[in-house]
Amino acid sequence: MRHIISLKEQSKEDILEMLDMAIKLKAKRNAGEITNLLPNQTLIMLFQKTSTRTRLSFEAGMTELGGHAIFLDARTTQLSIGTEFIDEIKAIMRYGQILMFRAKKAEDVMTAASANQIPVIDACSEKYHPCQAMSDMLTMIEHSGGVENIKKVVWLGIENNVMNTLMLVCTKLGIQFTIAAPGINEPSVDPELNKEAESTGLVKRTLDLEEALKDADYVHTDAWMDMEYFKDGKVLPEFEKQYKERIETYTPYQINAKLIDSYAPQARIMHCMGCHIDYEISRNAVDHPNSVIFDQAENRMHMQKAMILWLLEKGL
Ligand code: CP
Repeated sequence: MRHIISLKEQSKEDILEMLDMAIKLKAKRNAGEITNLLPNQTLIMLFQKTSTRTRLSFEAGMTELGGHAIFLDARTTQLSIGTEFIDEIKAIMRYGQILMFRAKKAEDVMTAASANQIPVIDACSEKYHPCQAMSDMLTMIEHSGGVENIKKVVWLGIENNVMNTLMLVCTKLGIQFTIAAPGINEPSVDPELNKEAESTGLVKRTLDLEEALKDADYVHTDAWMDMEYFKDGKVLPEFEKQYKERIETYTPYQINAKLIDSYAPQARIMHCMGCHIDYEISRNAVDHPNSVIFDQAENRMHMQKAMILWLLEKGL
């Protein structure tokens, strides 16, 4: 049975097959064609964390495939009152054909997948975000006119779950991946994933922004400020020190119009959203002519439709 957890499990050919399906599905939708490929099929969407894009894109995508999606907030299920996790998951999986799980821990997604009842997708855990990485690759292919035209992708800010899977997809497809990040989100680290990506010789690390951004085709970032430091828009006194440290460490790696116009005027600007304006990205970068951020958001739906079909081994 197929599962999508970290994308370590998928080959280059699998990734290209899903991307090709997404391109075709998007073209069909844009042409007004109906793609009722999953009638009477149910996607179960289990969330242990908040979401805007993931919920909407999966739910809308399943509607467009002629199926149905059920949203489950883990806090309102028996999972929240200490029932045995694997038993609840096994029962949940009896009601649908595919499970997407936004889990606090990737380990729980793997446990769900290990039941091998229905295909499971990691919909953003602390370590991985395969749906985002695949959607970002779809966006880059569209804007570059083909995967072969993408030569260099740059990640700025903090090494995290989104970066992990993007790095893996890029290196599997032969694209240079340069990281300019002064810090790491420790829970996101997967040594096996790092080893696989680094073994390609395509991963480079530097803190020199000019060097990192030289000849970049795409520049990505993601949140590095911890929103738990705030209440009602103000920094809580107990987090003042950590807040200042993060500002000092990461602000030089903020994507803003000046940085792009100075070092990489050719590069397109990417962010998986939600954006934290004036932290990892500025307003003038979100609204920059090079920004493809909202295309990334839309492409979540097209890409995930393809991922669902691929997991269920359904052709177009
Ligand atoms: N990028 C992303 O996963 O968005 P949400 O957290 O809103 O789902």
